[in-house]
Amino acid sequence: MEKKIVLSGIRATGHLHLGNYYGALRNFVEMQQEYDCRYFIADYHSLTTQPEPELLNGNVRSILAEYLAAGLDPEKCMLYVQSDVPETCEIYTLLNMHAYLGELEKTVAFKEKARKQPNNVNAGLLTYPVLMAADILQHKAHFVPVGKDQLQHLEMARNFANRFNHYYGCQLLVPPYPYEAKGEPVKVPGLDGSGKMGKSEGNCIYLNDDDRTVEKKVKKAVTDMTPTEPCSPMSEPIANLFTLLRLVSDEATVTQFTDAWNDCSIRYGDLKREIAQGIIRVIAPMRERYESLYADTDYLNRVRRDGAERVRVEVRKTLDEMRHVMGIRFF
Ligand code: TYM
Repeated sequence: MEKKIVLSGIRATGHLHLGNYYGALRNFVEMQQEYDCRYFIADYHSLTTQPEPELLNGNVRSILAEYLAAGLDPEKCMLYVQSDVPETCEIYTLLNMHAYLGELEKTVAFKEKARKQPNNVNAGLLTYPVLMAADILQHKAHFVPVGKDQLQHLEMARNFANRFNHYYGCQLLVPPYPYEAKGEPVKVPGLDGSGKMGKSEGNCIYLNDDDRTVEKKVKKAVTDMTPTEPCSPMSEPIANLFTLLRLVSDEATVTQFTDAWNDCSIRYGDLKREIAQGIIRVIAPMRERYESLYADTDYLNRVRRDGAERVRVEVRKTLDEMRHVMGIRFF
């Protein structure tokens, strides 16, 4: 039986953090055994915030090294940088003709970005979901491992695929679905008491943070009063700490802290120490591999070049098929 195709990517806007790891990267690594996988670094998407060129280039390099350090194996999957595959831009152009202003303006991420950077509401920001759809549809990917924050974008990619197929009376594009190996897509919370962990939120634990930094950050995480009534409901900051605990610790430890919460004996210092140790257990091995990978320019360039070469063959085929059904062909 043919393996299902999986595609996912991460924007090149800085070091990867724990949210990227649990929302996407952990699944990537597990999925490369069982699925036909493509992973990439979304550097065009980062341009929507107009970063310094050197910074952008450095971010692509560090994420590539982080992907490899986390266990992505270029022998088992296609690993590439978005801008090394210019065919994606043409697919993006074609899809843009069937993407409507009304639906793009309503996207939650667009509205948030437009609020945050009112002086730079550029067209790339508006059509961000179309470029993301091009990334996915060009591979005819069945599944996309993403965190909760990307579900709307993925739904739009599904809509674009179905709309294209319907309009041209074909079954060319494959509507993609979210994938989370362990059930529902996760939302990794930040350490500041509310919302998700995210680079623009400034509340991240990065995969290359050293042990001391992790301990310090977790120690500073927002908490509130300890419970005085047995089995009280948890406030958001405490529920968030328990979410982190569930991600990085075993079941017995989670039960122990849940019982301590329920009988009001919990000590937040102990909870935080446990979370910090759990995080360190997860990230330390990746951090150790990262340094030497990051320094190996030849290897990184080779991975990049080989990845792009293989991906371009596949993407070119989708592009040619799209052009054909749209009437862009020789007489
Ligand atoms: P980005 O770079 O913001 O995030 C990369 C991946 O990490 C997940 N993620 C989280 N998951 C759970 N909790 C969090 N706190 C958290 N923070 C980030 C995201 O859901 C995502 O899976 N638009 C994408 C990049 C992209 C892409 C694509 C992804 C471009 N084209 C095609 C998949 C397929 C983005 O900005 O992700």
